[in-house]
Amino acid sequence: MNIAANPHVQADQTVYLKDYQKPSFLVESINLDIQVYDDHTVVESTLVMNRQTAGDLVLLGRDLELKSIVLNGKNLEVGQYQLDHEQLVITHAPDQVILNTQVVIHPESNTQLEGLYKAGGDLFVTQNEPEGFRKITFYPDRPDVLAEFTTRVEADKKFPVLLANGNLLETGTVGENRHFAIWQDPTKKPSYLFACVIGDLAVLKDHYTTSEGREVALEIYAIEKDIPKCHIAMEALKHSMRWDEEHYGRPYDLDNYMIVAVSQFNMGAMENKGLNIFNTSCVLADEEYTTDAAIMRVQSVIAHEYFHNWTGNRITCRDWFQLCLKEGLTVFRDQSFSEDLQSAAVQRIDDVAVLKAHQFPEDAGPLSHPPRPDHFVEINNFYTATVYEKGAEINRMMSTLLGKEKFRQGTDEYFHRYDGQAVTVEDWVNALSAGSGVDLSNFLTWYNQPGTPKLEAKGEYDEQNHVYRLSFKQSLKVHPKYPNLKAVPVPVALALFNAETGEQYTLHCQDLFVNEVQDGVYLFDQDTATIEFSNVTQKPVVSLLRNFSAPVNLDFDYSDDELAFLIEYETNGFNQWQASQTLLERILLKDHAVEPYIKAIKNTLPDLVKKDPLLASRLFDVPTEGYLGSRIDHDYKPEAIQEKRNSVLETLARELGAFWKETYLSLDPSLQNDFSQAMGERALKNIMLSMMARQGDDSVFDLAYTQYSQTKNMSERLGALRVLVWNDAPQAQNALDDFYRRYKDEALSLDQWFMVQAANPNATAETIKALTEHPDYDLGTPNRVRSVSGGLSNNPVNAWSFGVEHYIGLAEYFDEKNPILGSRLLQVLSRWYTLAEPQRGNVQNALKDLQPHVKSKNVKETLNSILSV
Ligand code: TRP
Ligand code: ZN
Repeated sequence: MNIAANPHVQADQTVYLKDYQKPSFLVESINLDIQVYDDHTVVESTLVMNRQTAGDLVLLGRDLELKSIVLNGKNLEVGQYQLDHEQLVITHAPDQVILNTQVVIHPESNTQLEGLYKAGGDLFVTQNEPEGFRKITFYPDRPDVLAEFTTRVEADKKFPVLLANGNLLETGTVGENRHFAIWQDPTKKPSYLFACVIGDLAVLKDHYTTSEGREVALEIYAIEKDIPKCHIAMEALKHSMRWDEEHYGRPYDLDNYMIVAVSQFNMGAMENKGLNIFNTSCVLADEEYTTDAAIMRVQSVIAHEYFHNWTGNRITCRDWFQLCLKEGLTVFRDQSFSEDLQSAAVQRIDDVAVLKAHQFPEDAGPLSHPPRPDHFVEINNFYTATVYEKGAEINRMMSTLLGKEKFRQGTDEYFHRYDGQAVTVEDWVNALSAGSGVDLSNFLTWYNQPGTPKLEAKGEYDEQNHVYRLSFKQSLKVHPKYPNLKAVPVPVALALFNAETGEQYTLHCQDLFVNEVQDGVYLFDQDTATIEFSNVTQKPVVSLLRNFSAPVNLDFDYSDDELAFLIEYETNGFNQWQASQTLLERILLKDHAVEPYIKAIKNTLPDLVKKDPLLASRLFDVPTEGYLGSRIDHDYKPEAIQEKRNSVLETLARELGAFWKETYLSLDPSLQNDFSQAMGERALKNIMLSMMARQGDDSVFDLAYTQYSQTKNMSERLGALRVLVWNDAPQAQNALDDFYRRYKDEALSLDQWFMVQAANPNATAETIKALTEHPDYDLGTPNRVRSVSGGLSNNPVNAWSFGVEHYIGLAEYFDEKNPILGSRLLQVLSRWYTLAEPQRGNVQNALKDLQPHVKSKNVKETLNSILSV
């Protein structure tokens, strides 16, 4: 049919927040019957719908072969409805509708990993957020339509596991070879939270009793040999359930909670009601097969998806512009949970490092958008660092300002008001304000504006009156699409230190949230302001934005000695780290001397290594080449950054002399009972090894090879392997071959084998070619693809030379096969315009050459945006 004649399909595919309209029909209940066969699947659905507002009955559907459609008992003929590639529209529908459709779909050939798809040999799973459900059946597939789901799943008995959301009502057989299960979810939910699983899986079982006394059966499904790797996730799940009861008063609401591990998955995990589906990389955890970082990630993603049960599922989003309502809040909640699992300072450091390495550059470039965007072409392109991580920061700022008790009163009010509803960011901020009694409405500005604010601060000491004055100024870079940028509320957590004794002053300042404390918070919400501290007996050293109290770029004229002072004396571990980062960045980008840093490290490390080895390890974080590159806006020369960084690393290696080896030999993680401590010692050992290699002492390779072969721990094994491979050690090939033999049947470990080689600074186009032609490389498994392309992006010099062809090739390959993945891989190139010529022009030409070939909305929108600077 003619698209222009259909009022529901616009030629311009941009969707605007301001155009939101309520759905004309609500769905009371849906009955689904899904019959899976080897070469097709039949989906029959019965929707009971009631009219809510005037208008056509609109059902969304994509790639569905419509077999029959029956409205209130009457077969509809072609002509009684309008059907195009996106939707089925019935005009003049009665107010009460029972609609039955039968469609045929092809999960066995669905490579997009969206809707119902085959994820390897013996497994079919669904991924419906945000708009996958319309690939299963015709439905008003939008988050503000909440319905009760009953699901019958039928398949061959070679798939013994048949799961869907809710309670199992009935099972039975069909003929000789087939069987079925019927599930009913008692809670109303939007279609994006629907899930079903058909497969041959084993299960790990446990149980949990909620604070209300509800007995919950816990089940984690995975392939048989991975079951032993599910225990950490199971413990994390129980821990999360308790944590949400204790910190937010939120108990679980169903009798079962299931998690399914899938190796072919586009993202981390999905919070489907009572039936989470996880990327194996976010559920399988085992010291022998996965790294410490991966183990931490598993625990945080388990918590994240569990926390969605309240922030996302029971209270969901009115529309997809509100995505950060559920994601920003849930990320903030999982970050807080993780702060209880390891050194809290290090958790904060790692979260801020991600924010600064990904969200800040995103917000400074062509893909910049507000945490709550106001328009999009393809919503899948908005599962971004800005929506997730900056969204989390907004919630953290409000919680910092309110303090524990009032924040809890605010969240209680939110759950009380909106349980069972689909709501907006305004609803959240209003409830938080009403519950806490503090008006937070100006935080909405943070949600609605793009860009990282710059916070300039100046300090001035009045010796005569013992007064210290701090003045602030905030500004945002002009944004072509957002001409009316406003000042945002910036909570500035701060402390003053006595420069001689290293002690903290008690703060006497009327403008602070609480006066006469050591740790103060000032809410800076104007364009400029000045505050005064009295009783400051000597010129102080000020520490600003403690714990990173606001996601801004701070500009304060510290001397290098003051930064070194903060490394030594700041009691807030985050700001200790921040001081070391600022100092190192000056050394790297502005040729400052390395001495103050070395002196501070020498004074700080010996004690810290014992007290908090994980934090100690982070003080050696030399900003990565990628991060340093992201701080440069034009004439960026990756080689120059690489050269400078290497020379600083060599200076550090030399200056600290025997320190590296002595520390290495003094550490023994196996003597630590506490996981965080042991993890810290392992991190330190690996840093020491790589610095010893920088010293040019070849005996390090024997130490590394010994560590490689004698350990049972993946972080130690991989750390040693990395040192051998990246330094072309004589033992490198041996170790690589050995690693391959050990782990060739362990997908997640093998991913690391690909990654180490792709991330090798000495990798060449041939290295990448060999990896992508390796028999274990698999374009159908995003984890494997990302292990090579992610490894490659570790080295900007490589990524911006032979890497360009790699990324463009993948974007083109995945364009229609898996557009979500294709679009994300292309984003690696989004800062092409900062490069120096001739590289800049070369990458631009390569991107332009791709333009006429791309077809998916996802890749098209990304490509258009990144070329639009
Ligand atoms: N809601 C998921 C989460 O953050 C993320 C998600 C959105 C997702 N779309 C997806 C996960 C597609 C996997 C595939 O928890
Ligand atoms: Zn989420």
